[in-house]
Amino acid sequence: IACYKACEILRLLRKDGANVQVMMSQSALKFISKTTFAALSGQEVLVDLFPNSSKSGLEHIELANTLDAIIIVPATANILCKVANGIADDIVTTTLSVCDQPTLFAPAMNFRMWENPATINAVDILRDKGNIILDPHEGLLASLHEGNGRLADPRQIILAIHELFNIPLPLKNKKILITAGPTQEPIDSVRFISNYSSGKMGYALAKKAHSMGGLVTLISGPTYLNSPSGIEHISINSAKEMYRAVHSSIKDKDFIFMAAAVADYSSKNISKQKLKRSNQNITIELTPNPDILKSISKKTTAKIIGFALETNNGEKEALRKLNEKKCDYIILNYADEKGAGFNSSTNRVTK
Ligand code: C5P
Repeated sequence: IACYKACEILRLLRKDGANVQVMMSQSALKFISKTTFAALSGQEVLVDLFPNSSKSGLEHIELANTLDAIIIVPATANILCKVANGIADDIVTTTLSVCDQPTLFAPAMNFRMWENPATINAVDILRDKGNIILDPHEGLLASLHEGNGRLADPRQIILAIHELFNIPLPLKNKKILITAGPTQEPIDSVRFISNYSSGKMGYALAKKAHSMGGLVTLISGPTYLNSPSGIEHISINSAKEMYRAVHSSIKDKDFIFMAAAVADYSSKNISKQKLKRSNQNITIELTPNPDILKSISKKTTAKIIGFALETNNGEKEALRKLNEKKCDYIILNYADEKGAGFNSSTNRVTK
């Protein structure tokens, strides 16, 4: 599985603009084909120390000089022990033996292998030499055992690579709370009132904050979006649930982005049974929901960023909300503008 996750890491690196040369050991080829990596990297994958096409037999050394960093993913117990002890018997270990560029190992293995004294010793040796070795994660392993041995999350590996290149992480270790999506306010056991919010804004903020090194908690109403990996995700349905989730997550936060489209009202009497159809008009009595954004300023020292989705009188309304809800910033966008507002993948805002 970790070999497949390497594909995701390659894809993310390419998205960041990196030029990636893939090398694979013979064991890696037993798990995944080199064609996959060739397609994703757009380059030939190197697997042989002495390929038939070799001109000088020293191409790997020439290539090693052109690299800016080396990432070993997944790093097995085998490669950690070999590299720590200077063994160079295939294309990967030989290249590593001649490289002094920044090197990052992302281990994945059976938990007993990770706890094996030989592996522990190898990790110590490699760390002493200045290599970065990420700690594997705890969880269910391929052997169905629980333990320390799962590959670190791909986005965490990308963050570690950014650090390797001294790419600044302006939100490093900052605690960030983000609300996203609509809320659903039940009327009866099968119906609810909601709005057209897709959650895209809050999820995009969560992804970006995480990629800048932030520790992100995303509190989201129901959406069709996949939760970005590497962040804490809390699912809620109604405004009251979101209120409770926000207040129990608020502690120690540095930034709070309130991007959710919280329903302003909820049904006063929620029918336990499905309301029956009739030919009469019906009235649903609505009561105001708590204003979550307004309720947090006294409970936190975080910078608070609210959103104002308007259809008219935008700037005036946004300024009013900025003051009433005691935000540090308010982001104004228009619901009826093309390429902005609900369910759009782009937005145009006034800060
Ligand atoms: O008043 P309005 O709904 O336009 O305010 C929008 C801002 O307030 C958004 O940041 C939204 O997430 C937040 N909000 C809230 N709780 C509510 C209503 C809005 O947190 N009940």
